[in-house]
Parts: sequence; C-alpha cells; structure tokens
Amino acid sequence: MKRILLSTVCVAVLGLAAAAVEPAQAQDQGSVEVLHWWTSGGEAAAVGVLKQDMESKGVAWQDMPVAGGAGEAAMTALRARVTSGNPPTAAQLLGMSLRAWAEEGYLGDLTEVAEPEGWDSVIPEPLQAFAKYDGHYVAAPVNIHRPNWLWSNAKIFEENGLTPPKTWDEFNQVAEALQAKGIQPLAHGGQNWQDTTVFDDVVLGIGGPEFYQKAIIEADPEALGSDTMVKVFDQMRKIRGFVDPNFSGRDWNLATAMVLNGEAAMQLMGDWAKGEIIAAGKTPGVDILCTPAPGTEGSFLFNTDFFAMFDVGEERRPAQLIMASAAMSPSFQETFNLAKGSIPARTDVPGDKFDECGKQSMADIKAAQEKGTLMGSLAHGHAQPPAVQGAMFDVVTNHFNSDQSSADAAKALVDAVAAAQ
Ligand code: GAL
Repeated sequence: MKRILLSTVCVAVLGLAAAAVEPAQAQDQGSVEVLHWWTSGGEAAAVGVLKQDMESKGVAWQDMPVAGGAGEAAMTALRARVTSGNPPTAAQLLGMSLRAWAEEGYLGDLTEVAEPEGWDSVIPEPLQAFAKYDGHYVAAPVNIHRPNWLWSNAKIFEENGLTPPKTWDEFNQVAEALQAKGIQPLAHGGQNWQDTTVFDDVVLGIGGPEFYQKAIIEADPEALGSDTMVKVFDQMRKIRGFVDPNFSGRDWNLATAMVLNGEAAMQLMGDWAKGEIIAAGKTPGVDILCTPAPGTEGSFLFNTDFFAMFDVGEERRPAQLIMASAAMSPSFQETFNLAKGSIPARTDVPGDKFDECGKQSMADIKAAQEKGTLMGSLAHGHAQPPAVQGAMFDVVTNHFNSDQSSADAAKALVDAVAAAQ
C-alpha cells in the first residue's frame, strides 16, 4: 500500500516537474504567422481557439488579420506578401484560390504529417480534391460551412403567426406580410460576395440542383443565358425590394446583428452567422431559427476554410507542421467548429456537442453527398476559379444595384463568363 502511495506521489511530483519545465521547452517551437479574415465576434472567438492551441504547444502565434467578409481584402494582402518573397506561414484560403496558389507552386508539402496521421481516411473526398495538389496535401481543411441557410428571428415570426418560408414564392409572401406590418423583412449587406451568397440560393432554389450544377459549376452558356436564369434575376429584383435603404456596404455581421436585435426578420447567410448568434449568447435553432434557404432543402452548398501552408523554408517548417497537425486534430476541430458555426471537416468528430443547426448540417451533408446534391458555393470560392467568380460577382452586383432588366443581366452573365474564361 505504502509502495503504491509512494510511487503515486513520485509520479505526481515528476508530473509536476514536467509541467513546470514544459513552458521553457514549449517556447522553443518557433512561431507561425497566420493570415486570415476572421475579425467578427464569432470568427475571432474561433480563431482564438487555434491561437490558444498553438501557444499550448509552444508555438508563438503572429496574427495577421485582414478584415473583410469572404476574404477579398485578405487575398490582396496575401498576394503582396507572397510576391515580395515573404509569405506567411499559413493563410486561410477557400478551395479555388487554394488550387490557384498550388498551381503557381507557392505551397509546401504536408505529407510528413498527413500520411502518419491518416488524413486520407478522415477528410471527405470533395475536400481532398482541394486540399491536395499533385498527389500531396498542401493545406489543412478546418471546417465545412453551409452558405445556403436562412436565419429567422423566432420572436418576430411567432408574434406574426408566420413560419420560415420553404420556397421563393413563400419567401415573397412572408416578406410582403412583414413589410405590411412595418417590419424589415431582410437584413442584407450590399457587398458583391453577399449579393452572390443570395444569388447562389436563388439559382439553387429556383433552378434546382441540376441547374445549379450546369450554370454555376459548369458555367454552361446555355444555362447561364436561359429563361430559368431570367427568373432567377426576377427574384433577385424582388429581394432588393425587401432590403432597407442603408444596406449598401454593410458588413455581414452587422446584418446578422439586425436579426438578433429584432430590427429585421431574416438573413440569407452561411452558418458563420451562427458564430455571431452564439457569441451574442443566443441559441441557434431557438432564438434564431435555421432553415435551408428557400427551395434548397435536400441540397448542400459548401465552403471550407483551408489553412494553406506556404513554402517557407526549413527554419520555419517545424512550427508549420505542428500547426497543420493541430488544425487537423479531432479535439481542435470540435472546439473550433462549435465556435465558428460550421461542422468539422473530419468525418470522425462526434456531433453530440453541436446544436440543432449543426446536427442538421451533419445529417444534410451526408444525404446530399449520397444524392449528388453536395455542390461548391460560387460566392465562397468552391465553384469557379477566381477570375470567373469575379466576373459573375460583377454581374450579380451590378444587376442588384441598378434597374437592369433580368434578360439583360442573364445576357451579361454569359458574356462576362466567356470573357473571363
Ligand atoms: C467565408 C468563410 C467563413 C466566414 C465568411 C465571412 O468565405 O469561409 O469562414 O469567415 O466568409 O467572413
């Protein structure tokens, strides 16, 4: 008994000693400089999880946040850094721009961690298609976001005897009913990527998954210029009428705050909005309802945030590999995604800690993958290369902010895509 006690004490003391020296050892692991655009309340909470994780492993975190939803400003800052020969250790990238950086030869090789950790068996194939280049991993996927969500203020809906709309016709009816009562139907921020987030929903909701596949993923000119696309722009024009006069340039998280505060009834936005709901101390699925964007039930648009690892040379590489491994660990993916609003990129993370909306995302992505209705988001960089995506953004935003006819907008889409390809 004594011996057991003694050895327990010894182990405890040794453990304490080890803990005491750990910070000194830990400090030795170098540092990572990480470029990202996670600056809203929910986003910052999520990136804080990664920073803490790295610091606990003795890797110093040099933060390089570049504000601006969906990362347009961040991409400009990144290009400036890389072309001046001084890339950050890692950068948050969406699928198509990740691929473009890989093709340009700027990214490192993560085989050293990806192979022993068995990434291939836990990362879904559609994500591997972006995370790997030339047969090896160049990036770590940290989440799966779903952009095709509608967020509704439960109290407003209840008080007005309404339920979240399931089709675009229902959406128009609900929005008109709210408007008649002096309630702002839709919170929206007029920025090209936010306009296109809505556009993605309308293309999918009105045209269906096959049409989305043809028009958005394949950029098929016939689909882009079709009558269905004209109907899509008709609906975009309707939506414009449900938005308040101050929408121009508004950040997405301020639009989310409008729904949270009851200043507007709904927002069409990806589930990073859920990060804001959580950061505000509200319960997703209870205070703010989550339903698939009208007409998109059964389909899952996705975007994933990858940490692309740049070729930074031997000295900075060990810390980079620690970060890649940390970003892929199941416990990190759970904690991070609980704050971020997304679901883990790994398939083996249990869903029990996730809220109702997260659980729905997990179930819906499985069903969509089986049905072939899991598709990349145009607005969030998983459908078209940056040049074509940019051309489509311009057409969508120009139409939204002018009195251009739907037929002219559809024609402009065909021309802009052809010119950018
Ligand atoms: C997305 C990104 C999300 C979120 C959002 C708004 O493109 O994948 O993580 O940050 O932009 O900034």
